[in-house]
Amino acid sequence: MSKKPIIVFEGIEGSGKSHHISAVSKYLDKKRISYIKIREPGGNLNSEKIRRLILNNKSDFNKNTDLLLYLAARSENINTIKNSYKKKILLIDRFTDSTIAYQHFGMGVDINLIKTLNKFLLKNIKVDFTFLNVVNKRNLYSRLKKRKSLNRYDKFDMSFYRKVQKGFIKLSNINKKKYQLIDSNLDIKENEHLILSIIDRLIK
Ligand code: TMP
Repeated sequence: MSKKPIIVFEGIEGSGKSHHISAVSKYLDKKRISYIKIREPGGNLNSEKIRRLILNNKSDFNKNTDLLLYLAARSENINTIKNSYKKKILLIDRFTDSTIAYQHFGMGVDINLIKTLNKFLLKNIKVDFTFLNVVNKRNLYSRLKKRKSLNRYDKFDMSFYRKVQKGFIKLSNINKKKYQLIDSNLDIKENEHLILSIIDRLIK
């Protein structure tokens, strides 16, 4: 049996990440290919409880508490990931890059601390491929304005999201072969087509 990949979807708010992950799920469903889809923070009952706590508009945690809560949510997903690692396709809506992009590049938490904690949780688990959805300044503004139910992390100013996006791009430049940038200013169907062609290659 061929080894099944971990495929991650990353990007700031309004970058089209959720649209594309659901297009990939529908594609796999249609082909009757089994996969596991999780989102972070969240994914299972405990992790979803932590998600509600972090993103609740009434929460007012400091950046280190946020980091530890995101990691706590990840910790609750680790068994699911470990049990299917290389056996089932795993689609993950945000993962370790989000923690570095938001908590380090966005909020200034020490990057080595984040890497150590991620390593502690993940051990030998490695992401095979990441689709990084990027959005330009004008579209970011209009997309953020259009969002209906805003959570605590939807309300930062534009400069914060720009820092986070730059951070994501920096991470993708470290190992370009494992990333595909998806420019959300381009035609959505063409992007979908590109993503699905890469998915075909990753799962064959
Ligand atoms: P979502 O709305 O795309 O599910 O993401 C929830 C928010 O959590 C989003 O603003 C990004 C943020 N986040 C972090 O700040 N650090 C993390 O490690 C993760 C997984 C998400």
